[in-house]
Amino acid sequence: MKFRSSSVVILILALFVSLPHFNKASFLFYACSRAAAYDLNINRDFCLTSLQADPKSVSANLTGLLHISINLAIKNTTRTISHIRYLLSNSAYAHLKDDLSFCQDQYSEAIGCLYGAIKQVRLSSNDDHTNVNWIITEAMTSVDACEDESNKSILSKENGNTFELCAIALTFLNNFRKL
Ligand SMILES: *[C@@H]1O[C@H](CO)[C@@H](O)[C@H](O)[C@H]1NC(C)=O
Ligand SMILES: *[C@@H]1O[C@H](CO)[C@@H](O)[C@H](O)[C@H]1NC(C)=O
Ligand SMILES: *[C@@H]1O[C@H](CO)[C@@H](O)[C@H](O)[C@H]1NC(C)=O
Repeated sequence: MKFRSSSVVILILALFVSLPHFNKASFLFYACSRAAAYDLNINRDFCLTSLQADPKSVSANLTGLLHISINLAIKNTTRTISHIRYLLSNSAYAHLKDDLSFCQDQYSEAIGCLYGAIKQVRLSSNDDHTNVNWIITEAMTSVDACEDESNKSILSKENGNTFELCAIALTFLNNFRKL
């Protein structure tokens, strides 16, 4: 009996040692699952893959995941702006110049919003994120305008990615306050 009870103690100790890591890893999974269940625009695996690009996501709490998702949206938007600049400089896309210029303006607004959002999130206490909510929604409206008013085939993938990253940030912001 003595042997058995000491293996139980070891097992319990092992669980305690491994539990924090397991919990944190599964929190990301849980958060992405919840986000996908809450918002039909969000795909759980897209959420997981995107956030895992930042190694900090494995051990992040909800506030951390919010920061990471906004930063990912900023990176994505920045890269999309470079991509639009490249397309604008390429004569093969000359026939899309108006669409691309329109989208460049929309993305400039979106990036301004997202930088504002990350600043606000860092500054404000956990309780008042009304402003951040509003600013991220503005960014999504800009991306949406690009999608609606431009030649759909040219930036759809980028619009979709940026929109979804913003949607993830919004869901983290609004729907997990009680966790
Ligand atoms: C935008 O984010 C998505 C999801 O993380 C990623 O697959 C895509 O490559 C990113 N695009 C750019 C232009 O950064
Ligand atoms: C979330 O994590 C951050 C950074 O690790 C920490 O400063 C903060 O206190 C944590 N928040 C909660 C509610 O645990
Ligand atoms: C939209 O873009 C595609 C790819 O560049 C092009 O083939 C198509 O003609 C464009 N459509 C319009 C309405 O400009």
